[in-house]
Amino acid sequence: MAEDLQIVTGDKNEQYQNLIPQIKGLLTGEPDLIANLANVTAALKEQFNWFWVGFYIVKNEELVLGPFQGPVACTRIKKGRGVCGSSWEKAKTLIVPDVEKFPGHIACSSLSKSEIVVPILKDGIVWGVLDVDSEMLDQFDDKDQYYLEQILALIEL
Ligand code: SME
Repeated sequence: MAEDLQIVTGDKNEQYQNLIPQIKGLLTGEPDLIANLANVTAALKEQFNWFWVGFYIVKNEELVLGPFQGPVACTRIKKGRGVCGSSWEKAKTLIVPDVEKFPGHIACSSLSKSEIVVPILKDGIVWGVLDVDSEMLDQFDDKDQYYLEQILALIEL
């Protein structure tokens, strides 16, 4: 089966709108969570070429690093710590235009300048987060939140 991703240029809306049906196609019929998380990170990295994109999964009351694309990263994050742990605690998407201004930000890489973290829920309980980092300031907005939340809703635990 061909799995080539079709990449588009254009504005954010066009990029997400082109990508989302392809992600749906990748996930359809595949029940394995790790395989699906891995392909979502790869698809997002290919389309947007973000510095780091990956999942942390809740295990024994900690976030543990899951499938990702980018440089090596911190493996465990406690609830309420950093952007990821705060997103988990609040069960809310957090957009951080400048990571240096986020109290308690965990710097896995000094190159990361802005970040969005989107929680993934099942039955109202957060079971993981998607974390996206950019080397540029102020790269994420409510459009990213809207589309990334749509993408995460496609993933079944
Ligand atoms: N910056 C995150 C840590 C994860 S890395 O960026 C991959 C945080 O503050 O939670």
